[in-house]
Amino acid sequence: MEFKEPEAYSPSTRWWSKDTIVVVTGANQGIGYALVKRFAELGLTVVLTARDPSKGLRAVASLRAQGLNVDFCRLDVADPASIKEFAARLRESHGAVDILVNNAAVSFNELYRNTVEHAETVIRTNFYGAKLLTEALLPLFRRSASISRILNISSRLGLLNKVTNQGVRRLLLDEERLSEEKIEGMLNQFLGEVQKGKWKEGGWPKVWTDYAVSKLALNAYARLLAKRQQGQGLSVNCFCPGFTKTAMTHGQGKHTADAAAALAARVALLPPDELPTGKFFSTGGNSSLYSKL
Ligand SMILES: NC(=O)c1ccc[n+]([C@@H]2O[C@H](COP(=O)([O-])OP(=O)(O)OC[C@H]3O[C@@H](n4cnc5c(N)ncnc54)[C@H](OP(=O)(O)O)[C@@H]3O)[C@@H](O)[C@H]2O)c1
Repeated sequence: MEFKEPEAYSPSTRWWSKDTIVVVTGANQGIGYALVKRFAELGLTVVLTARDPSKGLRAVASLRAQGLNVDFCRLDVADPASIKEFAARLRESHGAVDILVNNAAVSFNELYRNTVEHAETVIRTNFYGAKLLTEALLPLFRRSASISRILNISSRLGLLNKVTNQGVRRLLLDEERLSEEKIEGMLNQFLGEVQKGKWKEGGWPKVWTDYAVSKLALNAYARLLAKRQQGQGLSVNCFCPGFTKTAMTHGQGKHTADAAAALAARVALLPPDELPTGKFFSTGGNSSLYSKL
């Protein structure tokens, strides 16, 4: 599949306008911040969110200094009360949403180390944070002609090929019977093994295990939600930005957050007639995009 740069769309083929509202979570730094900048440059109305208001407002000020206008709203995705408050504020301030980018995430792993000490926080933030926010915003999507879309910033580390546990593989491959309860049951199984110190023999992904399991669940939930929303004007896809130089990787990586955000924006802004649902997008060797499934 060939992807055009969003700038390449002529004014008549640009499907978005300043009335198109996009929300990005965890956007005070890293890929989220770069994505907000990109969307603002392309003329959408962007709501930059961050859990720490001082960091969020600093990010907004730095964008304003570059001539870009974005709105700010506090949002801690790991706190259900903050999600509820955000949804109410967004309804009041903007009335609707067109694009949601679930970007906020944490990892407590050093680059080449594997710790599951913070597994509960990682799963609460990376999986439940995205899921609860998505559910809270579902009634706010305008659902007009395939414009409404959710993009989860996920990771290849959470692809099914990283899992050797046959029970987990069977559960996730059984698309017909996959449910939220089953995905959450898998997470409880993992957290139980962590508590008992038995996770190493569990057949879970070997790299950044707790983080990878959170993204495994996020990918599965995206497929489930995509199926559920089919025909109702809302697409749900995932994107892996690849190894990117951000705080999460302690500045290591193959490319900058701006480069990763440029690719994420291409997926987020696919023309309505080319927009799939339930796909996992990733970067190829030459920074081209491919979609799996
Ligand atoms: N960097 C990579 O190589 C790489 C590769 C694959 C996927 N990803 C994914 O890309 C996305 C962005 O990560 P990044 O690399 O840009 O990392 P980052 O620079 O560490 O940014 C993560 C952002 O998430 C925010 N966040 C964390 N917990 C939050 C919460 N409870 N509520 C709201 N915001 C919260 C952080 O806020 P604070 O500043 O307050 O901590 C920060 O703004 C993540 O989904 C990550 O999993 C990254």
